[in-house]
Amino acid sequence: MIAAAEEERFSRRKHGKRPVPFAAWELPELAAAWCLEQAGLRPEDLDGVAYSYDPQLVVPGGPGQDERWEDLRTTYAHRAPNFLATALPGLDAAQVRFVPHHIAHAASAGLAAPYRESAVLVCDGRGEAVSHLAGHYRDGELTVLASQALPHSLGLMYEDLTQHLGFLRSSDEYKVMALASYGEPRFLREMRELVYATGDGGFRVEPIDWSVYAKALGKGEKWTADHADLAASVQARLEEVLLDLATWLHERTGARYLTMAGGVALNCVANTRLFAEGPFEEVWVQPAAGDSGTALGGALHLAQANGDPVTPMPGAALGRGWSDEELGAWLDVARVPYERPADLAATVAAELAADRVIAWFQGRAEYGPRALGRRSLLAHPGNPRNTERLNDVKGREQFRPIAPMVLAERAPMIFGRGPMSSPYMLFVHDVRPEWRDRIPAVVHVDGTARIQTVERGRDPLLARLLEEFEARTGLPVVVNTSLNTAGRPMVDDPRDALECFGSAPVDVLVLGPYVVRRGAVFAG
Ligand SMILES: [Fe+2]
Repeated sequence: MIAAAEEERFSRRKHGKRPVPFAAWELPELAAAWCLEQAGLRPEDLDGVAYSYDPQLVVPGGPGQDERWEDLRTTYAHRAPNFLATALPGLDAAQVRFVPHHIAHAASAGLAAPYRESAVLVCDGRGEAVSHLAGHYRDGELTVLASQALPHSLGLMYEDLTQHLGFLRSSDEYKVMALASYGEPRFLREMRELVYATGDGGFRVEPIDWSVYAKALGKGEKWTADHADLAASVQARLEEVLLDLATWLHERTGARYLTMAGGVALNCVANTRLFAEGPFEEVWVQPAAGDSGTALGGALHLAQANGDPVTPMPGAALGRGWSDEELGAWLDVARVPYERPADLAATVAAELAADRVIAWFQGRAEYGPRALGRRSLLAHPGNPRNTERLNDVKGREQFRPIAPMVLAERAPMIFGRGPMSSPYMLFVHDVRPEWRDRIPAVVHVDGTARIQTVERGRDPLLARLLEEFEARTGLPVVVNTSLNTAGRPMVDDPRDALECFGSAPVDVLVLGPYVVRRGAVFAG
């Protein structure tokens, strides 16, 4: 695995395109060109290009389709090889292969995970004609055991609720999950009648009239207890159905490990419930579990089918990176005063201990939606005001939590319930009661935190930063949230970092080995 990156990081347009079916012609041209450059390949060198949707599988006029746009989406998908050959001159369009959407998701988990054998569960909004896949990977071979046909879809159910609550569907689902922790699952009984597993590996989602439970909200309209209770009820029911599906899958496979992908696998509250209450020893979620990860899965699936060696993913740092010299040149061009401290970790830890907000830019960018200490905003977890402060920097809703990174060996002392290795921030953990007042900025209203565990061997600089911070404050925990401002994709290149530093109240910018202080750049 040489490179993986999302188009949004290049085009600076969130998700690369609008989350609507008629945007299907827009392909990740800039990201694809960069991946080739990183590999030292030209488009004509490629002997396989995966497209993670197979238009042949679409049932014309089938259930669950958006009839206004379905034919357009299918037409665009059929023409994808030509679109790609236009975007990447020299590419032979005949090398483009259609990989069924859920096979691509499944491969992005089962073939990328560090196991030779795993049960794999994929749930998302929809692919061509289904919304789910349950299967078994053994030595790279997938056996599909169940797949739920549309219109039944756990992902679409969650998307519908997202829209009902005034958020952007197919984009803002994580806000519904955050809102759920403010409510009580008062409508769980009703949801159990409407959404249920069918005992054959699949499930049903009956049509739901959301307005019976809480009135529809417009964009930015204030939510009430009813809305939070509805979110809590749907979240709880989703978790229960996923547990049923996982139990069925475990009975069928006897596998020790569960691997997951698909948009629903970004629901870290549900993931923890599967880990804590489900039958599998370990649950592994691919960091780019949403549709962006189907690029990786599609490629792995083709490589495996071709007999090429496929190895587990080395981590999420598969995006763009710059050398120290290149980063210095960016700062020189911007005529920004900077220093290169002898001990970067100690210098930054001292700034954090003094309650300064740090924009932290190190190494190659993360693949997937989470900041994992490469393009992160860091802050002191002990100041309860820092939740508000960072949500202000990022222009986010104040009900949304911010998350901690923690030294892996310290995690069990502070956190419980979720898996103790959580390098991709895709699980939530309970914060032990005696720690809640010590790290208030990262404790969500329900007493949980979505942690990233940092291992010395994998991330030595980050581990040193956490140690230095602990030495100054007694806290082996630092606030970590993604480095971006409202509605924008995460910072990716040094220009984005400088622009973010220039426009948001961030105290210190750390660009590789260099430190830029706000006071030195902006007078008074
Ligand atoms: Fe998907």
